Amino acid sequence: MKINKAVILAAGFGTRMLPASKVVPKELLPVLDTPAIQLVVEEIAASGIAEIVMVISRGKGALLDHFRSAPELESFLAQRGKNELLEVVRKTSAMARITTVEQTEPLGIGHAVLQAKSAVGNEPFAVLLPDDICECARPCLRQLMDVAERHDAPVVALMRVARADVSKYGIVEASPAGPRLYRLTGMVEKPAIDQAPSEMAIIGRYLLPPEIFDILEKARPGHGGEIQLTDALLELGRRRELLGCEFEGVRYDMGDRMGFLTAQIAYGLRHPQTADKLRSYLASILSSR
Ligand code: G1P
Repeated sequence: MKINKAVILAAGFGTRMLPASKVVPKELLPVLDTPAIQLVVEEIAASGIAEIVMVISRGKGALLDHFRSAPELESFLAQRGKNELLEVVRKTSAMARITTVEQTEPLGIGHAVLQAKSAVGNEPFAVLLPDDICECARPCLRQLMDVAERHDAPVVALMRVARADVSKYGIVEASPAGPRLYRLTGMVEKPAIDQAPSEMAIIGRYLLPPEIFDILEKARPGHGGEIQLTDALLELGRRRELLGCEFEGVRYDMGDRMGFLTAQIAYGLRHPQTADKLRSYLASILSSR
């Protein structure tokens, strides 16, 4: 399965990050100095995909603005010889071709995927949830694309989570199919701890065939009264082989206060301008306890 288009789901209200997300789309909240949505677009571009469809909702147009060229800002920086910053700004509009479609009602992520149907057309595509920031030596999406190409099958990203956390995720039932690879035999969206088939969670990276649109068109509301992508995947898995790839790397949940904070610290400990000072600051506050 060869993928040339990616769909980013960015229509949600971001209620878990209120009040920060009241006016500013939560996907624009940064990790250090880079909006989460840009990290996701960078992952897509680094994986070799140049065409992106962003599913947004009313009031979230700033998400597209972030990737438009900014002639006034660019000439301001050019006149002052701030060439490094100029490159930083130019990069944002050169990474990919981005279009948007609107989800007019918050009916779930399965419904959001369906809004991209005509923009995607009749070809396999990637879906990314920008709450999930994946820091990997080889981009998470590229890891999945390698599997999809090798096995000619749809693939989702998997991560092992603590038993106590299973009810925050789509959890799979799976049998081993190779190194870090699983054949998915079942899945359930946000199960109760005693009903989870495993501790393997779906992370927001999916490679899907266009057939998923037919399934989503007939889908009924599931967990939380929303059209769930997990339920559509379950149906897809009944029709054809569906794989899970336990990707190599670290994932941060930007939609959650602790995940947001962890991402800042992890990136701060690596950034050349902040790493040393942040390390001494953390050491000093930990030793003064
Ligand atoms: C979504 C999916 C869920 C998945 C999770 C990963 O849930 O519905 O299956 O495990 O993303 O982040 P959300 O976090 O949007 O509620």
